[in-house]
Amino acid sequence: MIPGIQSYKNIEELSEAAASLIIELAKEYIRKNGRFTFVLSGGNTPKTLYEYLAGPGVRDSIDWSSVMLFWGDERNVPKDHPDSNYDMAFRSLISKVLLPEENIFRVPTEIEPVDEVSKAYETILRKFFNIDLNSKKFPSFDLILLGMGKDGHTASLFAGSTQLKEQERWVVTSYVPPTSPVKERITFTLPLLNNALNVVYLISGIDKKDIMRTVLKEKCSEKQIYPSGMVSPKEKLIWFTDIPEAEYILRE
Ligand code: 6PG
Repeated sequence: MIPGIQSYKNIEELSEAAASLIIELAKEYIRKNGRFTFVLSGGNTPKTLYEYLAGPGVRDSIDWSSVMLFWGDERNVPKDHPDSNYDMAFRSLISKVLLPEENIFRVPTEIEPVDEVSKAYETILRKFFNIDLNSKKFPSFDLILLGMGKDGHTASLFAGSTQLKEQERWVVTSYVPPTSPVKERITFTLPLLNNALNVVYLISGIDKKDIMRTVLKEKCSEKQIYPSGMVSPKEKLIWFTDIPEAEYILRE
């Protein structure tokens, strides 16, 4: 699936554009199903989007009491640790909107060891979707936000990792390259990402132009190495970026 690419002047404008789509999807799914299952991504890029969504005049565009929040990946650190994806979302969004505690499905990183965290999170998700532990069925989240690392990773799925071969579990443990601040991660698996209805990527920084071009070229070919190019949801796949003229990157 080739993504729809939308390029903006800067991270503020790309975040505002992504927020408009998120608000539109939230209204659509709340109207249809009475809820919006929204999976957050981590790292730095989404912070601007979360702050914008929580801003005055914007936050009331979404009925937060009907939004269910999840995380597509998490670092194996305490929930108030500076490297925690939950902590970043709490400070930039959750603490500023009227989101009931019971709507927040955080990765329980207080559990030990890390493999038990992944299993526990999968159990939390299966309970939410009322899908039995032994069922091979995957749920469809309404929207999953993702980022793209300069090495082409997405969530905490890394090129060449065994986690990319997982076809049954929803959530697994991954051990990232030594460059990462936090080595132990908990991540959605590819089949869970690909069962989403909609996926939005937020890709910011000219230093990601090369990997974006490589991933896009791979998407036009059979051979895919980078996880960011392996995500194909059922409905919308849109990349919001501030890389200039990213829409024409394949013509360069
Ligand atoms: C994480 C993220 C990760 C992130 C990319 C891009 O936990 O770090 O889920 O997949 O989206 O690494 O990160 P930046 O937005 O910081 O460039």
